[in-house]
Amino acid sequence: MSKLTEQLVVETVDLTKNYDKTTVVDKLNLRIEEGDIFGFLGPNGAGKTTTILMLLGLTEPTSGTAHIYGYNSTREPLKVKRITGYVPEKVGFYEDLTASYNLAYTARLNGLPEDLVTKRVNESLGTVGLSHVAEQQVGEFSRGMKQRLAIADILIKMPKVAILDEPTSGIDPEGIVQMLDLIADIAKEIKMTVIMCSHQLYQVQRICNRVGILVNGKLVVEGLLDQLGREALGGGRLRIEVKLTEITSKLIDCIKRISGIVSVERSGDLLLITCLEDLRPKIAKAIIDANGLLVEMKIQRYALEDIYRKYFREA
Ligand SMILES: Nc1ncnc2c1ncn2[C@@H]1O[C@H](COP(=O)(O)OP(=O)(O)OP(=O)(O)O)[C@@H](O)[C@H]1O
Ligand SMILES: [Mg+2]
Repeated sequence: MSKLTEQLVVETVDLTKNYDKTTVVDKLNLRIEEGDIFGFLGPNGAGKTTTILMLLGLTEPTSGTAHIYGYNSTREPLKVKRITGYVPEKVGFYEDLTASYNLAYTARLNGLPEDLVTKRVNESLGTVGLSHVAEQQVGEFSRGMKQRLAIADILIKMPKVAILDEPTSGIDPEGIVQMLDLIADIAKEIKMTVIMCSHQLYQVQRICNRVGILVNGKLVVEGLLDQLGREALGGGRLRIEVKLTEITSKLIDCIKRISGIVSVERSGDLLLITCLEDLRPKIAKAIIDANGLLVEMKIQRYALEDIYRKYFREA
């Protein structure tokens, strides 16, 4: 499918929010496509949550518009809510009711047939690792348990769009990886589009294909993670770090002759090779041919941290 025919899931046009006289979201133009897993990044107070609240129709923009699947968030908030799942910064459930009951409530609210409710609730609780506390009151849950329950709630609803505001805060490290993979799997399976706010860059890098960085209410950069990453490294290049028992000038010459190599620099017992593509197999062969002894070879792709620092500093 061409880019042009792909459905825009989220579109904001000059979306702006002022609190008193302070502009906290400033003429935001955001476009998110179906199936994107969008990492919404930015420092504390940048305006991420405020943007999300406007997308969901939970707070009114001062000016500009937000649409989700063509529905105007301000004028058609119920339609937006029907197709959107939301995990807020502070998740809210009926605290004096059980986990099962809370999820069953969501299921019924979303029109799930009665004979499927219990099955779906049990499955979802199992998937997020809460089966053993299914009949416990949510008020007795820890923060991380509530966060897991919020993700189970998304599993019940299977929305077209999931908006997750710091979905993994309070979840233990092992659980985080599980949760993220789970979110990414569902997204793929049902073509769910995901918008995820997070300060955990490695988490974002793990599952997002697209990121936007908001600073002082303005989007300072937005795009495909891969592309931004290559730009941050400079000129679409990769860096390969090679450790050898001995570095000779003959060996450096051999590597330089490989087509696609941009530069070879020596740094102690390391060779830092910049190249246009992943040339590790050819580099390894050149080293062996030159009778070199290879100790280690590492490829340095960009890290989302590089991108974040670059654009954050420039903002
Ligand atoms: N209801 C409100 N009334 C007044 N100011 C508000 C209100 N909600 C948010 N703000 C202000 O708007 C700005 C943006 O806040 P927002 O919660 O959107 O940031 P954020 O990017 O989500 O930050 P964080 O990463 O800390 O969650 C902040 O300066 C905040 O103080
Ligand atoms: Mg926030």
